[in-house]
Amino acid sequence: MGLSRIGAGLGCLLGAMVAPAALAFTDADAVRVLTFARAQLADTTAELPGVTRSPKSSLSNGTWTTVANTDRIAWTQGFFPGSMWLMFQVASEPIWRERADLWTRPLEVQKTNTETHDLGFKMYTSYGEAWRLTGNTYYRDVLLTSADSLATRYNSQIGIIDCCDWNPNWNIPLVTDTMVDLQLLLWASQNGRPAYRAMAINHALKTLADAVRPDGSSFHYVDYRADGTIRSRGTYQGYSTTSTWARGQAWLIYGYSMMYRYTGDARFLTAARRVTDYYLANLPADLVPNWDFNAPMQYKDSSAAAIVASALLELSGLETDATRRTRYRTAALGMLDSLVSPAYLAQGTNSPGLLLHGVGNLPAGQEIDVSLIYGDYYFLEALLRFNPRPNYPWYAKLSFSRSQHLLGTNNTGTRAVEFDLTPLRDVIDGGVVGWTDSSTEVTSFSRLNLAVRLSTDGIYQARNGAGWSWLRRIPYVRGRTDHFRLSVDLVARRYSVWVTVPGAAEVQLVNNVAFRSDGPFINDLGRAAVIATTEDSEFRVNSHRVYSPKQPPAVARAEKLPDALWEQLDVPEPFSLEPTTSER
Ligand code: GLY
Repeated sequence: MGLSRIGAGLGCLLGAMVAPAALAFTDADAVRVLTFARAQLADTTAELPGVTRSPKSSLSNGTWTTVANTDRIAWTQGFFPGSMWLMFQVASEPIWRERADLWTRPLEVQKTNTETHDLGFKMYTSYGEAWRLTGNTYYRDVLLTSADSLATRYNSQIGIIDCCDWNPNWNIPLVTDTMVDLQLLLWASQNGRPAYRAMAINHALKTLADAVRPDGSSFHYVDYRADGTIRSRGTYQGYSTTSTWARGQAWLIYGYSMMYRYTGDARFLTAARRVTDYYLANLPADLVPNWDFNAPMQYKDSSAAAIVASALLELSGLETDATRRTRYRTAALGMLDSLVSPAYLAQGTNSPGLLLHGVGNLPAGQEIDVSLIYGDYYFLEALLRFNPRPNYPWYAKLSFSRSQHLLGTNNTGTRAVEFDLTPLRDVIDGGVVGWTDSSTEVTSFSRLNLAVRLSTDGIYQARNGAGWSWLRRIPYVRGRTDHFRLSVDLVARRYSVWVTVPGAAEVQLVNNVAFRSDGPFINDLGRAAVIATTEDSEFRVNSHRVYSPKQPPAVARAEKLPDALWEQLDVPEPFSLEPTTSER
């Protein structure tokens, strides 16, 4: 990663005729950061005294400030559960679903809160992610009630969501932040509340007309009289009336990209371009803005960079103009490249967060140069927009509950399974990769219907009825990655396993052997477990996928999936039944 190269690249980004600079951000960077995020989030769940308060910003002693989940005006409580939902998306580990659910449910009290415009932030990041990733109607019902509450704040005379009753200086205000709250209304408009679509569209158009300046920069707030005339406009968290607060601009970029995704209305694509082009043209070399583009006080705001990186990965996937598409994607990857560098990543520091150098509210003297839970959330979202299904390793776990990964409920009949396995010790004392169905909790080895074992003899074996079988002695070797392919017949309760070691042809380990004789009855291939017996991480599994060999997937893996497809998280990757060595 080279920041000077990114800075040089920015000139290219803005010169449409010049090819963009090559960027260094890769899947490996995303996996590295997700691994760090996993540890940080786990530590935070362990450190917090209970689920009544959610983390907000870092303190110099390495802990988080927290906000009561019942606080009606605070806007940040959804980001911690939301981050855990994103972590569940990474590797489908039930532990992250459990943790995310535990921190989501305390926010149900907010669903009838009509005192804030920020219900979109609070509820879409928590309950919205929960609904997207689980399809559990409890989450959807809470979201719909929340949308009903937010809709009560719509002022039909002016055509805006009224934002901030708490500020006595304002009459009927909007802030640029509210653009992101609109997602709750747009989602609801597609889920039984069609009237909310017009509210979101009207609010977005009014914000565009009155908060966005001709050059694409923005006021933070606009305050209206009851008749819709402007009373005042300026800033609350930025530097001055004429300046542009970086995060306020980030909310506009995110908001108009999201509006265009939901509506397909070209006015929102044009708006997204305008606010984005101002933002990109005013960035410093490392693509992380000062907290306000016009302020003399120099404090980077990494949260703005994370929000914009995520937004531009979305916008570049929707953009109709090829040159802009490349420019926005290149900019987003440059931002991520910067954020994952030691200059911004909290790894190796005492921060409990992911990103250093965020600014909450500088004019109020609050949260200056800290980690911010919302910066971390959008950072994770950006990583998963870069690749919704990162090649995240499944490290073997001693704990049965932590060893499991959910595969969905659709894997019935005959299925193919593939994965790569890398031993990380010389002798692995019976560690297994095993499978059972989606409803079977793995509490012991005996719950696994089929399994591949790394035996104490140093060879691979496969479960066969009451014992273990192998047709050939295939030794496993520390650090060498072998490729496995299974053909599983869930009706006959039989399976075959093939192994490919690097540089050699595929060989069969077992042929049509029986599921474990005392295993539970299973309906689907819904759960994989990667279990260690000596220490955590004694081996790892990569690129695990399960698919129907009879129905090759029609949808190839995309770097940016539309939201409708995100709901089908078990869309497998393209495959060949006889992959070439180079594909492994
Ligand atoms: N929505 C409040 C902020 O961005 O700080």
